[in-house]
Parts: sequence; structure tokens; C-alpha cells
Amino acid sequence: MKNNFPIGIFDSGIGGLTVVKEVINILPQEDIIYLGDTARVPYGIRSAETVIRYAIENTEFLLTKNIKALVVACNTVSAVGLEELKKRIEIPVIGVLEPGAEAAVRATKNRIIGVIGTEATISSSSYKKTILRIEPDIAVYGKACPLFVPLVEEGWTEGKIVQSIVDRYLNDMKSRNIDTLVLGCTHYPLLKRAIQQALGDRVTLIDSAVETALTLRNLLIEKGLARDNNPSPKRIFFVTDAPERFQRIGMNFIGNVITEVEKVSIPYREVVSMDIL
Ligand code: DGL
Repeated sequence: MKNNFPIGIFDSGIGGLTVVKEVINILPQEDIIYLGDTARVPYGIRSAETVIRYAIENTEFLLTKNIKALVVACNTVSAVGLEELKKRIEIPVIGVLEPGAEAAVRATKNRIIGVIGTEATISSSSYKKTILRIEPDIAVYGKACPLFVPLVEEGWTEGKIVQSIVDRYLNDMKSRNIDTLVLGCTHYPLLKRAIQQALGDRVTLIDSAVETALTLRNLLIEKGLARDNNPSPKRIFFVTDAPERFQRIGMNFIGNVITEVEKVSIPYREVVSMDIL
């Protein structure tokens, strides 16, 4: 029964755990296989060509695990490589970008939206293009915030230093009079409090992770792939480097859910023969 197969989720590293957290909240009965490409993170500073190659290799690995659907938790991959992945595989694929863009369009009242993300995500203008495809009459302003990822990985999500960095990056957004801001990067939901503080309560923050999990639920129902019950759902985590670090920092993202992490090499070869070494 395909319904009982797991959902595959990948990210450039640890940040995609924000998506795993929401998928567990919204679809607690589903098994999940997660891959964090911790050996090659960050993707957000790389060329589209490299990001797409990494994304294909990650997907090839997850396909060996019989997944029934693929969630691209990484905003950078969703921005530059989703179409390429969709062309290559038959199972349903969703990224985080479209659900976030749709939610922002629903939320804005003054039709001025801000988007923050990695350099690759912002320079691709993918959020802007997607928002304008849904609703051409909206102003969209993007801003890359490259220091946010290392801050979160370091566990610094609040306090004076964090606030002054967040304030500095978001200064432009304030002068643009946005009423909605898309958190267009896996790590940014952990900075929600500092971001809200910088922009004030008037601005609605869009968490792509929540929107993606809701979209996934609808997609599974629509395709007849949703699982009914599962007394002991499995969550299996793979990384391409430093499993202990992933488990330790992962605590900040999803608490105790990560009980075991296995290291794999990507590109993945199922059988490694010693003869070829
Ligand atoms: N996962 C990436 C994203 O959401 C952030 C980290 C990276 O640059 O790889 O864009």
C-alpha cells in the first residue's frame, strides 16, 4: 500500500527541521525520512547550477527509500530547482515557496509584501515572480539576510546582538511600508520574535513551514496517499556529515524527536564494492 510509504523531506542541512516540525504537527500519522546535506551546506551562497545538482543527488537518495511524496524543505532549492526536480520524478513534489507566496497574497491588505531569504533565493526573484503570477498588482521587496542562518545555527535567536543585526537588515523593509513579510528561509522561523520586534505588530509574518505542511496534507488527500492511522510513526534522519552536531542543534528546532541520525554519502551508491576503491 503506497499510503503507508514514508514522506521524503530534504534540506541543505538542519534548517528543514522547521518543516519536519510542522509536518509532524499537521500529519502526525505519517512516517518521515529526512535528509540534511550537512556536508555541503550552505546552499544559499551557491550558483543555481550547483544547487540543482545537489538537489537531484539528494532526491535520488530519498527515492531509494520508497517515498510516496517529496517535500523540498529548502527555500533556496525551492527557488531555483523545483521545476527541474518535478520534470525528473513521478511522485508528487512540493517546495516551500509556493505555499508561502500564496499565504502572503492572502494576508496582505495594503498589497506591499516583503520577502527575506538567502542570497540565492532573493537574487532568483522566485518569490516575487510567484506572488506576481498569483496577483500582478502587488509590490514585492526582497532582502537577503545572510547572517541569520549562522546566528540560528549558533543558537542565538534573541538578545541584544541578535536584535541589532535583525533591525539592521530589516530597516529597508520598514521604510517600504510592508504589511506582510515572508520568512523565505528554513531558519528564519526561529527568529520570529526578533523579526516581529523589528517590524512591529502591524506586520504579518508568513511561516512557509506551516503553509507547506498544510499544502502537503491537501496534496496527500487529493492523491489518495494520506495514511489513516499509525500507532508508532517512524521519523528517520540522515545527514551527509557531523550527525552529532545535527542531533545537538536539531534540539533547538524540534526538541527530542531526533533519536538517531545516520551518516550517508551523497551521491549515494547503494552497494559500495571494495574492489573499486
Ligand atoms: N536551507 C536554506 C534555505 O532555506 C538555508 C541554509 C542554506 O543556505 O543552505 O534557503
